[in-house]
Amino acid sequence: MRSTMLEDPTTLEKPWVTTKDPYARIAYFLTYSVAFLGIAASALRIYFGYKSVPLITANLCMVLDEDFTSDTDTTFGPNGNWFREVQLGGFGNGEFEMTTSSSSNSYTSDGYLYLTPTLTSDIIGMDSILNGYTYNLTDCTYNQTNPEALPGSSNSTSFDAAAYYQSCGAVSNSSTGAVINPVQSARITTRQSASIKYGKVEVRAKLPRGDWLWPAIWMLPVNNTYGPWPMSGEIDIMESRGNSRSYPDQGIDYVRGSLNWGPLSFLNAVSKTFGWWTQRRTDYGESFHTYTLEWTEQFLRIYVDSRLHYMLELSFNEPFFTRGDFPSVVQNGTQPIVLQNPWVNGTNATPFDQEFYLILNLAVGGTNGWFPDNAGDKPWLDNSNTAMRDFALAQDQWYPTWGSNGESSSFMVDSVKMWQIC
Ligand SMILES: *[C@@H]1O[C@H](CO)[C@@H](O)[C@H](O)[C@H]1NC(C)=O
Ligand SMILES: *[C@@H]1O[C@H](CO)[C@@H](O)[C@H](O)[C@H]1NC(C)=O
Ligand SMILES: *[C@@H]1O[C@H](CO)[C@@H](O)[C@H](O)[C@H]1NC(C)=O
Ligand SMILES: *[C@@H]1O[C@H](CO)[C@@H](O)[C@H](O)[C@H]1NC(C)=O
Ligand SMILES: *[C@@H]1O[C@H](CO)[C@@H](O)[C@H](O)[C@H]1NC(C)=O
Ligand SMILES: *[C@@H]1O[C@H](CO)[C@@H](O)[C@H](O)[C@H]1NC(C)=O
Ligand SMILES: *[C@@H]1O[C@H](CO)[C@@H](O)[C@H](O)[C@H]1NC(C)=O
Repeated sequence: MRSTMLEDPTTLEKPWVTTKDPYARIAYFLTYSVAFLGIAASALRIYFGYKSVPLITANLCMVLDEDFTSDTDTTFGPNGNWFREVQLGGFGNGEFEMTTSSSSNSYTSDGYLYLTPTLTSDIIGMDSILNGYTYNLTDCTYNQTNPEALPGSSNSTSFDAAAYYQSCGAVSNSSTGAVINPVQSARITTRQSASIKYGKVEVRAKLPRGDWLWPAIWMLPVNNTYGPWPMSGEIDIMESRGNSRSYPDQGIDYVRGSLNWGPLSFLNAVSKTFGWWTQRRTDYGESFHTYTLEWTEQFLRIYVDSRLHYMLELSFNEPFFTRGDFPSVVQNGTQPIVLQNPWVNGTNATPFDQEFYLILNLAVGGTNGWFPDNAGDKPWLDNSNTAMRDFALAQDQWYPTWGSNGESSSFMVDSVKMWQIC
């Protein structure tokens, strides 16, 4: 018997060998061409993405190179780079700290700068904080930072006595709820030594841990060319909250960068120009990170460690007055005012087209909303008349979170570099 299976194989019909199925051809063609298009499009995207990242192409000249290897007296001395601002009026944010010139609150050690918060109650006692005590800052720097207030100034008629007393002294009184600022801290600036108009700033720092601590690396204009804050702008390179990672409104695992600007003292458009970066498994109090500002006439970028980790990237492609999309009439209490553009004679970079100096500070608390009400067991309400008193009374809650050795609650800075486009 001969099997039909053993027939001469050449005689078998295999139509799929001789004539290709036209549908299979189309399927191959489609698959490969779609894959090719995908690769080509990705390559183009990467290329144009790469090309669209603006970079500083001009020369940079160093204006400040600080590594904090000098001792405390030299660093803050007349030939040092840093000026200590000494005030207790809350710096416009209702902050709860007073800033001092004490080497307990700002000092250098082993090549690091420390901004360290301490308790006022350790010096005058909690009873005095709450009642019957007058605290005058004998080395208050209000007059230096408001030069029209200096004795003998040609413009001494503009001396604002109320603002001076509010910034330089406090009286505690339990029947009014007024208290002495319960924390002492530091705020240091390059106002006298270094400023830039376009350039780059790099600060390598480790952030402080502890509830309601608010460290910041930021810049203000040397001269308020376009009017008082925020009309002349503010550049925030880094702001953070010392609260733990479980804090619901972005604790120490977040850092934020922003620009503050607006045409009136009570009209700040910061909500249009801010951003943040976050750490997934660690936080910014764990180790040092580098906070960078890149700033030209065309763009501004704020990032941490790498340009890929940017908090804010802004092209100066429209005037700030347009960007703000402000109403034409605003209410000042009951008074309607027609909004004027304070930057009308400027460029797309205005008001960020003037000299800015650098500030490093460690604030505590405040009533401007940086710590939103009712988040993380916040012990005060922003619009309460006794906000600072309520904070002082909760010292046993927040002070233990600052750690026991003073180091973890310190804002530590390893180096500061500033360059000017030249
Ligand atoms: C505290 O404030 C009350 C009410 O304003 C005032 O009568 C009292 O004299 C103040 N006490 C001190 C010690 O200033
Ligand atoms: C600040 O200036 C005012 C007005 O000239 C003066 O009364 C005051 O003593 C000055 N304060 C300091 C600390 O220099
Ligand atoms: C005096 O100070 C006021 C307010 O700071 C300012 O508007 C004014 O231009 C100053 N005048 C002079 C002559 O510097
Ligand atoms: C101390 O500060 C208080 C509150 O600002 C003020 O009323 C008082 O005049 C100041 N005293 C001196 C000597 O400056
Ligand atoms: C700021 O203003 C003062 C006084 O008008 C002037 O001497 C100084 O050059 C100005 N500084 C900058 C950076 O514009
Ligand atoms: C807003 O009103 C306050 C209080 O009346 C006044 O001092 C201030 O100058 C006004 N601001 C503007 C921009 O008109
Ligand atoms: C803009 O320039 C014009 C003409 O020089 C001037 O009259 C006006 O006051 C300037 N406006 C501002 C806000 O500086």
